[in-house]
Parts: sequence; structure tokens; C-alpha cells
Amino acid sequence: HFPRKVRIVEVGPRDGLQNEPSIVPAPDKIEFINRLSQTGLQSIEVTSFVSPKWVPQMGDNTEVFSKISKRPGISYPVLVPNIKGLQSALDVGVHEIAIFGAASETFSVKNINCSISESLKRFQDVVDVAKEKDIKIRGYVSCAIGCPYEGPISPKAVANVAKQMFDMGCYEISLGDTIGVGTPGSMRAMLEEVLNVLPLEAIAVHCHDTYGQALVNIITALEMGVSVVDSSVAGLGGCPYAKGASGNVATEDVVYMLQGMHIETGVDLRKLLAASDFICKVLNRETNSKAGLALSKK
Ligand code: HMG
Ligand code: MG
Repeated sequence: HFPRKVRIVEVGPRDGLQNEPSIVPAPDKIEFINRLSQTGLQSIEVTSFVSPKWVPQMGDNTEVFSKISKRPGISYPVLVPNIKGLQSALDVGVHEIAIFGAASETFSVKNINCSISESLKRFQDVVDVAKEKDIKIRGYVSCAIGCPYEGPISPKAVANVAKQMFDMGCYEISLGDTIGVGTPGSMRAMLEEVLNVLPLEAIAVHCHDTYGQALVNIITALEMGVSVVDSSVAGLGGCPYAKGASGNVATEDVVYMLQGMHIETGVDLRKLLAASDFICKVLNRETNSKAGLALSKK
């Protein structure tokens, strides 16, 4: 049973640009986000309030968040790893944050420099302050299927971290196939385990397309009733602390597929292609979206 509607969480400005070798100038990021805001997307992840020593590409977080035109009805979440990041995010008037944990101990240390249990303590501190300020909180669980350092990750480990983050107060948990190793087999097994501890409405999937499995993994999730999908325009993306991770599933490909299935997204594909074309020109590269490439040749 496929859902009638799907909410797409566009992660291009954050996941898409955090791993680019060159730092995109803030005015181009702002223009990119403003264009995305015209497409009908309801959720656009703008930036990360992380350490600029760890991710220099997001070092302009304050400027970018402050200067984008915020359209009513669109949520503009940002990544926050700790209280320091939360404070900076609050200073610029953020309404939604995402905390990001992992189901792999090694990845947790490589990405945020602490163990899973330590990270959960930090997240609790962040959540406590965020809740007081009425900030919406999303949660990520990375390495939900496989880890670049530890290999396959057990669905139980994923469910365990997902539940703790949900119980803390995340309204939604995005399950990240960080390095895109999942298949419909491992995606289904992981979701079945997570569904034992989380309500269906609280689950999102975040698929990287390293092995070309992202769309079929998304279909697997939708078949199980999931109705929130993360994606990135032009298929940009990757995590600097996940060796070998390639881009996210392209938003154009997701929208094209869902249109064909008569599943509502509210996204205007033509406007999306224009935003994608803009950022590809800035980055001086071709799109990774197959639908985008095909449609641009029409
Ligand atoms: P640490 O080095 O352990 O932090 O890093 P620390 O608390 O010891 O501080 C070290 C320095 O960083 C200090 O500065 C702090 O002030 C500064 P110094 O005294 O040396 O000048 N600092 C900060 N500066 C700005 N904003 C902050 C902040 N915190 C500390 N918030 C830390 C720990 C978490 C900060 C670091 O590891 C970090 O920033 N990691 C982020 C890595 C990251 O952004 N990864 C990509 C996002 S996750 C992802 O892509 C996966 C996802 O897409 C889902 C999926 O695909 O699976 C979400
Ligand atoms: Mg990601």
C-alpha cells in the first residue's frame, strides 16, 4: 500500500554541498535555496551548525540562514551536533533542528568524535533546551544499513538508537543509508525492526545512491507505508566522514517516479530542474539525476 502523498525533505544545500571539494560562495547558496523555495518543497535543510574545522563547507551557516528568503509554510531545518551549535542556530532564529547520531560506534567517533552513548547524552542536552524554545527536532540515524568502517549493521542496533532519539522528543527519525549499500532486502529487514519500536508516521528514509539502489530502496520503504523521503537536487551529496559515500538520491528522480505513480509531492518538476541547473552551473558539473539529464535534452 503506497501512501497517497509523500513529503520530500530536500537536503541539497546541506548534504549536497558539505562534501564538495570547493566551498560554494554564500550568495550562490542563498540563491540556490531561494530557488528551491519556489518549487513547492515543504522542507529544505539549509546548513549545519557544526565545527568549521570539521566541515569548512558549512562555515557560512549564520550568513546563509539569515539571508535566505523564508517562505511561510516551508520548514528550514539545520543540523546541530551540540549545545554550541544550538546556540548559534537559536541566535539566527532557526525553528527546526536535526540532531544526528549513528548506529555504528566507529562512524559515530569518526563523524562527531564521541561514542553512541555519549552522543545520546549530548543530544538530550540539546533537546532539553530546544524544547523549551519550541524548536522542532528531527533525528538522523546514520549507517542504518551499513557502515564504511564496520560493514553491515544489525537492524536491532538501528532500532535501538532510533527509539532513544524518538523518545527524547524527535518528531521524525530519518534512517540514513549513508554509503548507499542497502538493497530492498536489507532495507525491508531494517524497517521491520524499526517499525517494532517507532510509529510509521515518524519514519523517514535517507538514501545515498552509491550502488544505484536508492530508488528501489525508497519504493520498498513506501510499500511499507513510509511517506517521508530525503533527497538532494542533482543527486549531490555525501558525508566527508563516510569514505566512498556518493550522492543522495536525486530529488528530480524521486519526483519523476512519484508523479508516474500518482503520488502527490506538491513539487513542480520544471522549477526543480531550474534550481538544479543553477547549482550545477555554480559547481561546474553535470547533474547526477538521470531524469534531470533526460528532461534537459528534450
Ligand atoms: P570536537 O573536536 O570533539 O569538539 O568535535 P570540541 O567540543 O572538542 O570542540 C573543538 C573545537 O570546535 C572548539 O574550537 C569548539 O569551539 C569548536 P577551538 O576551541 O578548537 O577553536 N566547536 C564548534 N564550532 C562551531 N559550531 C559547533 C562547534 N562545536 C565545537 N557546533 C563536533 C565535535 C561534533 C563539533 C565535530 O565532530 C563536528 O562538527 N562534526 C560534524 C561532522 C559533520 O557535520 N558531518 C556531516 C553531517 S552528518 C551526515 O552527513 C549524515 C547524514 O546526511 C545522514 C546520512 O547520510 O547517514 C545526516
Ligand atoms: Mg546523508
